[in-house]
Amino acid sequence: MNITLSFFYICMKQLSTKAGPIGIFDSGYGGLTIFEYIRKELPQYDYIYLGDNARAPYGSRSFEIVYEFTLQAVTKLFEMGCQLVILACNTASAKALRSIQQNDLQNLDPSRRVLGIIRPTAEIIDELTTSKHVGILGTAGTIQSKTYEMEIAKLFPHIIASGQSCPMWVPLVENNEYNDAGADFFVKKYIDSLLLKDSSIDSIILGCTHYPLLYNKIREYTPEHIKIIPQGTYVASSLKDYLQRHPEIDIKCTKNGVSKFFTTESHEKFQEIGSMFLNQQIEVEQITIP
Ligand code: DGL
Repeated sequence: MNITLSFFYICMKQLSTKAGPIGIFDSGYGGLTIFEYIRKELPQYDYIYLGDNARAPYGSRSFEIVYEFTLQAVTKLFEMGCQLVILACNTASAKALRSIQQNDLQNLDPSRRVLGIIRPTAEIIDELTTSKHVGILGTAGTIQSKTYEMEIAKLFPHIIASGQSCPMWVPLVENNEYNDAGADFFVKKYIDSLLLKDSSIDSIILGCTHYPLLYNKIREYTPEHIKIIPQGTYVASSLKDYLQRHPEIDIKCTKNGVSKFFTTESHEKFQEIGSMFLNQQIEVEQITIP
């Protein structure tokens, strides 16, 4: 190979490691409810969506396992060229984000970024609540970690936050049973339990990205005066703001308006359910992680 050609390949390699799609990660389909809003807000960017459906749900798993799986997924998305990864999963944001940001990133690549979705959701809550009593519905992992309560207390110490785990909701979504009559029992059960903890709650955060799929049923069993808050729009505008404030990261995100979808489970199943979620036919590839 002549010197000019070798130089060209070195430059190309450097360039390809410098810019890439934005990675969006969730344990399964749930992150699509975040991706949908991000893509609407920032359509010019390229995205890689990765759902670890083969190992979902994460919500009932230990801290160590959620951390290990999330780190593997982030590493995979980095290998696929992503310079910025969004954990579109509350459980992973609660249990793995901090360790990855503080410990792993410096070994993986300190110039890349991994962001979560709990902080941007906590940031808007004061604007939405009047009673200053809020509820959080999430997976067992998210609720037990108390991450929402801690983030809200740091930002708005006057707000009283109560959490309720809903362990049956993600399986209902992952198994495409969320519209069936059988789902009603578990939807009502967890909302009643939350409101028993604090009857002054006037706003409820859907602190799991799978839950917007259950929105209609959640609305049906929640008193009308209580706001139900899915995260998508807030995460999307926070990401937009982040990219404006960090041009050094923005420049590393490619912008051709292309989205690609990957799952660790059957690509046919993801194609079918994911297309329903997004109201658009999608092509999906099956991959293994790590
Ligand atoms: N969608 C994820 C979340 O936001 C987790 C669901 C799960 O795998 O349990 O917490």
